[in-house]
Amino acid sequence: MDKKYTAEPYRIKMVEPIRQTTREERITLLEKSGFNPFSLRSEDVYIDLLTDSGTGAMSHNQWAALMRGDEAYAGSRSFYRLEKVIKDITGYRYFIPAHQGRGAEQVVLPQFVTKPGMSFISNMHFDTTRAHVELAGARAIDCVIDECFETQNYHPFKGNFHLERLRELIKARGADNVAGIIMTVTNNSAGGQPVSMENLRQTSDIAKAHDIPIIIDGARYAENAYFVKQREKGYENKSIHEISKELFGLADVFLMSAKKDGLSNIGGIIAIKEDDALFERCRTYIVPMEGFPTYGGMTGRDMEALAVGLQEALEEDYLRHRLDQVRYLGDRLRDAGVPIQHPVGGHAVFVDCKTMCPHIPFDQFPAQSVVNAVYLEAGVRAVEIGSFLLGRDPDTKENLQSPLELMRLTIPRRTYTYTHLDVVADAVIAVYARRNELKGVTFEYEPPVLRHFTSRLKPVT
Ligand code: F0G
Repeated sequence: MDKKYTAEPYRIKMVEPIRQTTREERITLLEKSGFNPFSLRSEDVYIDLLTDSGTGAMSHNQWAALMRGDEAYAGSRSFYRLEKVIKDITGYRYFIPAHQGRGAEQVVLPQFVTKPGMSFISNMHFDTTRAHVELAGARAIDCVIDECFETQNYHPFKGNFHLERLRELIKARGADNVAGIIMTVTNNSAGGQPVSMENLRQTSDIAKAHDIPIIIDGARYAENAYFVKQREKGYENKSIHEISKELFGLADVFLMSAKKDGLSNIGGIIAIKEDDALFERCRTYIVPMEGFPTYGGMTGRDMEALAVGLQEALEEDYLRHRLDQVRYLGDRLRDAGVPIQHPVGGHAVFVDCKTMCPHIPFDQFPAQSVVNAVYLEAGVRAVEIGSFLLGRDPDTKENLQSPLELMRLTIPRRTYTYTHLDVVADAVIAVYARRNELKGVTFEYEPPVLRHFTSRLKPVT
């Protein structure tokens, strides 16, 4: 293993104490949580790898910017500052803020659903994107390359669209029944996997040939750009800013959960390249859903912090360290034989729990079982991305089987050190050593929708 790693391009100015618990305490806490770490108090978590969403550390410049916040209901100075940054980054004409990514989705996606029977096609829809597609009366179809599901095999861009299937889908459904093509960069659900510029260009060409709108779901677009720079020929000497601009040039609309590559604790972005009518519709719709178009659910100070964070997230020193942290954790696990989605993506290490625990059936949620064991081991909170999250078939009510059963170890930005990651690696490796003893879980209480958040589970005896 390459023991070397990129040292932090920052020093620490403020600390937040975290507390380790004893194993006995954690046994009780996990039981009380219904074997579902979503229900744990964060105080009872030592290292929290539940998500990279809104959990990053802000810089001194962001904290300073907060003080400039203009909280005017309409026409806030902070809005105009943020608008300028977003226009610079995207090259788009219009910007509307939203409180977070799903706020942007709920406003924009219904605008494309103009009749019954329409579908969106994405490399992979994130859960909330899928939910808003369905709430708008459309269907969400995933169209990612097969290599994405072969966790042990290397592919530099596992987030790529399956272009042949994309063409077939458009042909079979009829182009005017495709509401939009959603490019999720990076592809969160299958491991934060990047999409190559070449693949995005071809996807864009296909969409344009059929007059289908192209929407970027770009929560982690800067991380994607860094992978393109590292792995795709012809991009070695381009800046992250240039690569991102090229990506935005391929699409019509950019939606972003700014809680990720915006380096902010809250915020969402709607940016529209040039469609005046779409902008007018979204600007009307945002008012009852999120707020007046110059705040859209954000405070002035949060818009200030985001304006700074968006620029910091494009800095190469920052990105190099960010992605190297994830790489480091991935290497430590792989060297110990733990099966992971390989290569690791931008924001998390995804452990392949189907391969790790083949003795646990999918409807006893192998990845949830590993998540619980890792919490017991060291107070580390991870999250299940598999059949537990996927839920049930709306018609038959049967448990759906996910193609992958993953435990996501999501790394917040600028928050933990390599020493913390060593604690995580040691815990996962210890659990891996006794993987054959792990037991599945079953429901004690199951809510009707989005069950993974509030279910209560119990171990299968
Ligand atoms: N799109 C992608 C690709 C996401 O990863 C997320 C959120 C959203 C949209 C929705 O944005 O949370 O700001 O409303 N992902 C988080 C996660 C929650 O943990 O992966 P949001």
